[in-house]
Amino acid sequence: MFLQARPTVLTGDRPTGILHLGHYVGSIQKRLLLQSEADCFFIVADLHAMTTAFTKEELSLLPGRIHDLVASYLAFGIDPEKSVIYLQSGCPAIFKMNFLFQLITSANRVMGLPSIKEMAQNAKMEDEKISFGLLSYPVLQSADILMSQATLVPVGKDNVAHVEIARDIARRFNNLYGTLFPLPQECLSQTPSLPGTDGKGKMSKSGGNAIFISDDDETIRKKVFNMYTDPNRVRSDIPGRVEGNPLFVYHDLFNSNLDEVEDFKVRYSKGKIGDVEVKKSLAHALSNLIAPIRERFHTYRKDTSLLDSILKEGTNKMRVRSEELVRDMFARMGCSHFK
Ligand code: TRP
Repeated sequence: MFLQARPTVLTGDRPTGILHLGHYVGSIQKRLLLQSEADCFFIVADLHAMTTAFTKEELSLLPGRIHDLVASYLAFGIDPEKSVIYLQSGCPAIFKMNFLFQLITSANRVMGLPSIKEMAQNAKMEDEKISFGLLSYPVLQSADILMSQATLVPVGKDNVAHVEIARDIARRFNNLYGTLFPLPQECLSQTPSLPGTDGKGKMSKSGGNAIFISDDDETIRKKVFNMYTDPNRVRSDIPGRVEGNPLFVYHDLFNSNLDEVEDFKVRYSKGKIGDVEVKKSLAHALSNLIAPIRERFHTYRKDTSLLDSILKEGTNKMRVRSEELVRDMFARMGCSHFK
């Protein structure tokens, strides 16, 4: 019934600042491929950002972070002519959908989700302080997904459970009130999480182990030279471990000189190359990758009226779509008294 020639894709990010390499390999690359093959919607999820940052001080940072995110998208090559970039709070239908979906989601289903605890931890929020708003994060995300009637949702590992909830909600709604929503399917990138420069878990802003697209060459060099490698290799003539070593994970992903990478690996595992040489080459590869992105980022970031107009245009498109959809939902539910 929902055999679509062209998939509808929805994904996005909380505006928490400038994007980093983890975003690039985790999801942006996928989006760049999809944007010419699918109808793509990219959400700037400011309401989701508020679930862990709602003090006046934190909220005052949001407008700048929204600009950071949109400028990052454009710098990476997301093209507003092809894809819709929109602001979540600019589509008021989200609040209605969120409420309706809360009605048909069991509280048990969302309680105890590890992703919620992880977000609370990252925000330095104790478990007892987890709010209804944060608990309901996956329902709000389901509303995002279903609002675009998405069939495909590119996400990281930590968000897969949320797409499953969106699927449950879609199924439940369709059963109760008649089929309206296609069942959204998650799609994971091949590199679901890039290790951070400290080798401790995935690259993230809050982890302080990220390389940002705004980093200049010197910053990149410093970060690479401070990278965690094989801790047992205190001298360069000691054979090192290549497998799982972030240095080589990065080389594999970002150094296009495959012969060089292969040669480094062989020599590293035999104790025939110093860390400095491997790091120097990685810093070089990363600088080459990031330089044009950084330049575009700064150009777009300065042009806030352009960013605002792109966001406004996308948001208008989604607003119209979503209002129609929510009317349809209420009609199916027989809630004719709802406006
Ligand atoms: N939860 C996503 C994150 O971790 C952001 C997000 C909000 C999202 N709504 C979405 C992702 C809908 C995919 C689809 O930042």
